[in-house]
Amino acid sequence: MKKIFSGVQPSGDLHLGNYLGAIKNWVSMQSEFDTTFCIVDLHAITVAQEPVELQRRILDVAKAYLALGIDPKKSTIFVQSDVRAHTELCWILNCVAARMGDMEKMTQFKDKSAKGDVERASVGLFDYPVLMAADILLYDTDVVPVGEDQVQHVELARTLARRFNKKFGDTFVIPQPKLTKEGKRIMGLDDPTKKMSKSASSEYNYITLMDTPDVVQKKIRKAVTDSGSEIVYSDEKPALQNLINIYSLFSGDSTENIEKKYIGKGYGDFKNALADVVVNFLVPFQERVKLMSDEDIKKILNKGAMKANEQAEQKIRDVKDRIGLVI
Ligand code: TYM
Repeated sequence: MKKIFSGVQPSGDLHLGNYLGAIKNWVSMQSEFDTTFCIVDLHAITVAQEPVELQRRILDVAKAYLALGIDPKKSTIFVQSDVRAHTELCWILNCVAARMGDMEKMTQFKDKSAKGDVERASVGLFDYPVLMAADILLYDTDVVPVGEDQVQHVELARTLARRFNKKFGDTFVIPQPKLTKEGKRIMGLDDPTKKMSKSASSEYNYITLMDTPDVVQKKIRKAVTDSGSEIVYSDEKPALQNLINIYSLFSGDSTENIEKKYIGKGYGDFKNALADVVVNFLVPFQERVKLMSDEDIKKILNKGAMKANEQAEQKIRDVKDRIGLVI
């Protein structure tokens, strides 16, 4: 059975991009594949976090995974820092496989540090893609379902795996990224040239999974649209294309069908219907989250960590042995 691994950072409420670009895909893969989903808290601390809030967010992301349909009977769910082999492999890859030249090509560091002060960016932020490679490579992952912004990092994992294998013999499986056509890049509602992101300057950029129906309606009403008034799915209308993608992913209707449905109708009608589709998904999701207790979640995470540790320990032993650290 093919192995799937992916993760989300606990750095705030998840937004529609996280769900439609990644988690929705995970849910559908669970029955067919051997799936492992991680809450990557060590990635979250590459930027400043408030400790109490971080603890809360780790549990909140775990609740969101479950309420979105990740089933602990089918998938392993765990917190990254509960499995020490992640940081251990990260260090080993830093030393024996990753090169400064690879790292300097990583666009996310350039983007994130450019917004702030490069001098003050943490070393962890620079090294973040190697930790992500460690996450993936520890579990013999075949496929990594992610949004487009993470593809460069999966490519790095492939490069590091190949380099390690060449020098020390066949150790790591070469992973492949997996994207969906409509979900791979959900754009900001206030600016269709930039991806939806929790770090956007305006809250009108994103819809979080915890937004109330009123807020969802308001954000969709205010979403920018393109010139003209017809509902057509085209690259020339990127704002509308993004809204149609969201509608399509939530409703299961094809983009062609959505165009047909709205012939002769305007943006107002379409936006009202889109808000309904999103709210109809979010309200029951939020109810499921409310019913979950921290204690139950912790039990699931502990069980997941035990299973992940078993696999990761075997791999890290093999890696250490190959590079001469086991005497
Ligand atoms: P993170 O936490 O930023 O995002 C989690 C997932 O959501 C996807 N995503 C989007 N997809 C479509 N449109 C968007 N606007 C959008 N915004 C976010 C991301 O592509 C991602 O799949 N480094 C990763 C977490 C990570 C990881 C891993 C992923 C750590 N280790 C190993 C896979 C495998 C990150 O920061 O994702």
